[in-house]
Amino acid sequence: MGADHGGYHLKEEIKVFVQGQGIEVLDLGTHSTESVDYPRFGFAVGDAIRSGKADLGIVVCGTGLGISMAANKVPGIRAAVCTETYSARMAREHNNANVLALGGRVTGVGLALDIVDIFLKTDFAGGRHARRVDLITAVERGEVI
Ligand code: RB5
Repeated sequence: MGADHGGYHLKEEIKVFVQGQGIEVLDLGTHSTESVDYPRFGFAVGDAIRSGKADLGIVVCGTGLGISMAANKVPGIRAAVCTETYSARMAREHNNANVLALGGRVTGVGLALDIVDIFLKTDFAGGRHARRVDLITAVERGEVI
């Protein structure tokens, strides 16, 4: 998990929820509401997944936008901003998203925890969706555009 000051409080709520499900959490900060630069935390979460230290990531900033853009610059990362549960399910099922991005100033705690729950419980469907996700990965190798 990672967050900036705009996502700190929601990150803390999510951390308790996820740990309560018996899932180990690697909290890469930030650890207070002091102003920080969200890209560093998006990069850190992306790098933890790329290096195999984590399976999935959750990033939180004020909107979920900036920190998702940063995470998506890390090769192999597919970060999805979700503000409702349907997109959270599809992000895993169709897009094989490995990072969920949330906005601490946008989404209330109750809905955010539902979004997290669905994201963590949904598996990638594969099949035709794998071909499409592979195209996204191929562009990182310069093979598409
Ligand atoms: C910080 O004020 C804010 O810009 C940040 O949390 C995030 O919303 C950026 O996308």
